[in-house]
Amino acid sequence: MQNDIHSIGEHAREEISKASSLKNIHDLKVKYLGKKGILTEQLKSLKSIPKEDRPAFGSSLNEIKKSLEDLISRQEKGLKASDINNRLKTEQIDVTVPGCYTPSGRLHPVTQVLDEVSGIFTSLGFSVEEGPEVELDFYNFEALNMPEDHPARDMQDTFYISHDIVLRTHTSSVQVRVMEKNDPPLRVIAPGKVYRCDADVSHIPMFHQLEGFMVDNRIRMSDLKGVLELFIHRVFGPHTKVRLRPSFFPFTEPSAEIDISCVMCGGKGCNVCSGTGWIEILGAGMINPRVYEKAGYDPDKYTGFAFGMGIERIAMLKYSIDDVRLFPENDRRFLEQF
Ligand code: DAH
Repeated sequence: MQNDIHSIGEHAREEISKASSLKNIHDLKVKYLGKKGILTEQLKSLKSIPKEDRPAFGSSLNEIKKSLEDLISRQEKGLKASDINNRLKTEQIDVTVPGCYTPSGRLHPVTQVLDEVSGIFTSLGFSVEEGPEVELDFYNFEALNMPEDHPARDMQDTFYISHDIVLRTHTSSVQVRVMEKNDPPLRVIAPGKVYRCDADVSHIPMFHQLEGFMVDNRIRMSDLKGVLELFIHRVFGPHTKVRLRPSFFPFTEPSAEIDISCVMCGGKGCNVCSGTGWIEILGAGMINPRVYEKAGYDPDKYTGFAFGMGIERIAMLKYSIDDVRLFPENDRRFLEQF
């Protein structure tokens, strides 16, 4: 019995000394010292040998076990160290190899312009409000002084969801929503998507607008002009000329269209401005008292202005883009220029 375990020990020592990899070592550890390992089995058989032989046998077994454990851990250390040395010798990093190019995303040009424009108005104290894109006819038309058979409704090619639900055709729909929930003074911008059933070089069925309005006790048209001039000078530069041209919108009275001196020719006349030297960029006016009535405001108490602009149009003028369809197309060759 004793001889037996000594020869097992010898054999194990030999095998462990020859182990050439950490995997080898692990396997040998299992083979001899594991739960069902050879030495473990021997330990279990201790019960079956004569009582007087047990102490000697047990202590030999423990000695062998201990010596194998020591040997295994020494071998492991050695193999780990040589593994590291090998890797240090063979694995080299060539720091002169060019890195991999990871293209990074960026904001869509429409988002960039929307952020820029919103930033100008928030810097003037306007707060941002949003309304639903699937909108009640009431907020999109009725509350803005466009009753059911009003001809101005035809100006906007509306997507109808049902008789009284539409995809909003403009962000002006946010005006009465905000007024219903808040009392003046109001200084609000409402940016967002709007929808019209129309498509050509200058129209796409989904585009972006930014509505702005201000309501208080003594807001005048000159306030509107001042705010818009400041906005235009920040976006198109301080030398841009601004003019208000009389116009009509059912929800403003008086109404105006705002023109700027042509960004291409500076006002001399070119094909972008059809030779006039002026480009129309937004609609505006003094809020019609009928809108206040719909919102539940006393129309004798308040005055205010409103304006609305198309963001794609501002972006097209700013970056000299001649086809609005490029925006939703999302061709990276186009997008990467911004
Ligand atoms: N909602 C108008 C449109 O989409 C733009 C507009 C014009 C908004 C005049 C206004 C305004 O607030 O006063 O064509």
